[in-house]
Amino acid sequence: MDSELLRRAIGYAIERKRVEVERLNLLAREREARAAAEGALRTRDQVLSTVSHDLRTPIAAIGLYARALQASRHQADVVDVHAQRISKAARDGLEMIQELLDVARLGMGQEIDLELRRLDLSALVREAVIEQQQNAPEHLMRSAGDAAIWGIWDRARVKRVVANLLSNATKYSPAGSQVWISVSREAAAKEPLAVLSVRDEGLGIPEADVPRIFDWYHRAGNVGNRKGTGIGLSGSLRIVQLHGGSIEVETREGAGSTFTVRLPIRE
Ligand SMILES: Nc1ncnc2c1ncn2[C@@H]1O[C@H](COP(=O)(O)OP(=O)(O)OP(=O)(O)O)[C@@H](O)[C@H]1O
Ligand SMILES: [Mg+2]
Repeated sequence: MDSELLRRAIGYAIERKRVEVERLNLLAREREARAAAEGALRTRDQVLSTVSHDLRTPIAAIGLYARALQASRHQADVVDVHAQRISKAARDGLEMIQELLDVARLGMGQEIDLELRRLDLSALVREAVIEQQQNAPEHLMRSAGDAAIWGIWDRARVKRVVANLLSNATKYSPAGSQVWISVSREAAAKEPLAVLSVRDEGLGIPEADVPRIFDWYHRAGNVGNRKGTGIGLSGSLRIVQLHGGSIEVETREGAGSTFTVRLPIRE
């Protein structure tokens, strides 16, 4: 074979190989994209199912207490108690829907407008602790720092951040264990900060998951069958950042977790 023919044959073989490799790469990328799309659909379905399930609780409560109201024969004190329960269940349901609306907006890259008002963070945390203690009566919740800390924040959204930290601390730790909550003021270089810390002696978070717990829908590998959607912390981080603050986590698998939120105080 003359050298020109040989050169062409080698060139042809190389080109064929290159096309083949490119085709395989393309196939692999397509398979990856399909798996990612299927994973996203599964996550969406899981989130939809958990959220719909959670929303049934306040709505069922409203129905139940409304029927109790009807049966109360206008006895003033009974009417009062049931009316308060209905109004609390309605607030809970609305708050869940508001959280979903925030998640949808943030997920589409849109901003959310904070509703800033002057409030006492210590009082808000006390309220959240009482509510969470009712949801997890077997946990011992210990609070420190009663002094009022006034600042300008979005009440409903900060309450959501606190409620999710408390719910995580009890959900991911065994019944009978303790949860420590503290609220304090920190004099930082730029401006004073309110510092909330929530510590539990529960599961902790595996090292590989720690960098991802603030990603939308990410849940650590050790959650077992505990229910959740993986939106609590991701939404919380955005809310805290919109206030100019930060969230930090210290954790070790099997040895509990401490979450610390810092919020600038703008009086
Ligand atoms: N205190 C904690 N102890 C152990 N793991 C935690 C703790 N807090 C959060 N995590 C881990 O971080 C993940 C994300 O938390 P996040 O609050 O965003 O979601 P979730 O609790 O699973 O669901 P939800 O959206 O209902 O709050 C959890 O699924 C869990 O794996
Ligand atoms: Mg949570």
